[in-house]
Amino acid sequence: MLADSFETIIQRRRSNRRFDPAIAVADEVIERSLKRAILSPNSSNMQLWEFYWIQSPEEKAKFHALCLGQSAAKNTAHLVVFVTRQDLWSQRAKWNLSRIQESLQGKEPGKMEKRGLQYYSKLMPLLYRQDPFGLFTGIRKAMCFFMGIRKPFMRFGGKADQRVTVHKSCALAAQTFMLSIAAEGYESCPMEGFDAVRVKKELGLPSGAEINMIVSVGKGTDEGIWGERFRLPYENVVFKR
Ligand SMILES: Cc1cc2nc3c(=O)[nH]c(=O)nc-3n(C[C@H](O)[C@H](O)[C@H](O)COP(=O)(O)O)c2cc1C
Repeated sequence: MLADSFETIIQRRRSNRRFDPAIAVADEVIERSLKRAILSPNSSNMQLWEFYWIQSPEEKAKFHALCLGQSAAKNTAHLVVFVTRQDLWSQRAKWNLSRIQESLQGKEPGKMEKRGLQYYSKLMPLLYRQDPFGLFTGIRKAMCFFMGIRKPFMRFGGKADQRVTVHKSCALAAQTFMLSIAAEGYESCPMEGFDAVRVKKELGLPSGAEINMIVSVGKGTDEGIWGERFRLPYENVVFKR
């Protein structure tokens, strides 16, 4: 049963913070897992993400320090830095446009294709465009306010909304990656304990990029599991309406 396999993977994935340095993780495991991560759902298929695979012993040592020396970043077989690239919105919108245009193969666009072309040529610029004076943000916020008076309207105005959007999608990719690592028989730990300024500098990233999380991978140990897995009771967090 597919659901049984999925349950096994979910139960198997734990944040492990002590890896066995003697056991390597083959590159193919990471490659397969990154390919699966790329298939994650993401906002408007804009794919405003990048994945930096840290492999070399020198870089891994640097990243251990950048992750504040925490044990989850020590003795890792690999590290993957999940990065958001909100700044690449125009490039990615054009990429999506070109994919639709290619699929037409010279034919006239149908209803679906027309909608797609409009979506990436008109709506994406409207949602993502920024200017130094915050003019577009002002226009978006005013639009959301007035259009939302009488009927439901997507509230997507300011820079923070855009950041939330790209981080949501990137975190989903990180989750797919970690589940894949569990399915491959290894352990991982997601981390937000790092110096984002220095990580960006180390990776040579521009100001528009942001670090979503860093995931360490290795063969975990029993000592790497910090106790029982407890969660709030189902009734406390699930509300039927
Ligand atoms: C966004 C995010 C950031 C995290 N940052 C860290 C971290 O910096 N260091 C760490 O040891 N664990 C970190 N964790 C792991 C959590 O502590 C862990 O997922 C949680 O305690 C639940 O345990 P489980 O993953 O074993 O189910 C992070 C998890 C998430 C989702």
